[in-house]
Amino acid sequence: MVETAIKIDNVSFKYRNADSFALKRVTFEVAEGEFILLAGFSGSGKSTLLKCLNGLIPHFHAGRFGGTVEIFGESTLESDTPQLAKQVGFVFQNPENQISNLTVEREIAFPLENFGVPKNEIISRVDELVALLNMEEIRYRSPYSISGGEQQLTAIAAALALDPKILVLDEVTAHLSPRSAVHILTLLNELNKKHKKTIIIAEHRLDRCLNFADKLAFLEKGQLKVFGDLQAVFQSKEFPTNMLPKIPSLFLKLDKKIGLLGDKTSTIPLTVDELVATLNNR
Ligand SMILES: Nc1ncnc2c1ncn2[C@@H]1O[C@H](COP(=O)(O)OP(=O)(O)OP(=O)(O)O)[C@@H](O)[C@H]1O
Ligand SMILES: [Mg+2]
Repeated sequence: MVETAIKIDNVSFKYRNADSFALKRVTFEVAEGEFILLAGFSGSGKSTLLKCLNGLIPHFHAGRFGGTVEIFGESTLESDTPQLAKQVGFVFQNPENQISNLTVEREIAFPLENFGVPKNEIISRVDELVALLNMEEIRYRSPYSISGGEQQLTAIAAALALDPKILVLDEVTAHLSPRSAVHILTLLNELNKKHKKTIIIAEHRLDRCLNFADKLAFLEKGQLKVFGDLQAVFQSKEFPTNMLPKIPSLFLKLDKKIGLLGDKTSTIPLTVDELVATLNNR
C-alpha cells in the first residue's frame, strides 16, 4: 500500500502583522512518490503553504496557525525543525538567500555538519551527491561565482544531503534560462521516478512540468480552489483559463519532451480539450 507522505488538514495561517489570512482552511493529501505542482498567482500563499511542510510555519514565523500538517503521520506541531529537516528537503524561492559557505562542496556538506555526521560519512555523501547531480565541475567553486542554475543545483544537493523522502521546491526555475530550467526539472523528474522522492513544487511555468507532474493544487487568495489530476484540474471551472499552460500543439505531437525548445516556442495557447488529450497520451 502507498503511504500518505503529507496530510494537510484544514490549515489556516495569518502572519502576525498581516490583516488577512495567507492560508484559509487548506486540505489535501500527497501520497508517497507523487509529484505535485502547486500553482497560483503572486501572493496566493504558495510559499506560505510550503513553509508549513518543513515546520518553518508555525515554529519560526509568528502568527496564528490552525489545522494540522502531518509528515508520514507525525504532526509538524510535535516535531521540531531539525527532525523535519530529515524528512523534508527544502529549496527556497531565492537561491542566493540559501548560500552561506565558501565552496559548493561545503554548501552541500553544511546540513550534514549541523547534524554532527562523522567527517568520513560527510565526504562520501558529498561524493555521492556531486556524482548524482553531475556537479564535478563546480564542486570546488565559490557558490557566489556560479550561474543561477548552478546555484539552484547546489541548493537541491544540500536539500538532498540528509536523504529526505520529500523534496519541496519553491519556484526554483523562476530566474533561470529556459535551458537551465529544463535541466533542473528533468533532474527533479529523475529524483521522483528513479529515486522515489515525493516532490512538491511551486512553479509558474506549468507547461514545463506537464509531462511528469501527477497532480496540481491551485491556490487563490489562500484558498485551495482545486486539487487533483492535471486533466481534472484543467477541466475544472475553478481553474482560471489564463493559467492554462501554453504549448505549441504541433511540437507536442512531434515530441513529448515538453519545454526543450524553451520560451520562444511556448506561447501558443492550447484548448482545454487539446491539453487533456495530450495529457491522456503521456
Ligand atoms: N513574512 C510575512 N509577513 C506578513 N505577510 C506575509 C509574509 N510573507 C508573506 N506574506 C503575505 O502572505 C500572503 C501569501 O504570500 P506568499 O509569499 O505565500 O505567496 P506566493 O503565492 O508564494 O507569492 P509569490 O508567487 O509572489 O511568491 C501575501 O499576501 C503576502 O503578502
Ligand atoms: Mg512565493
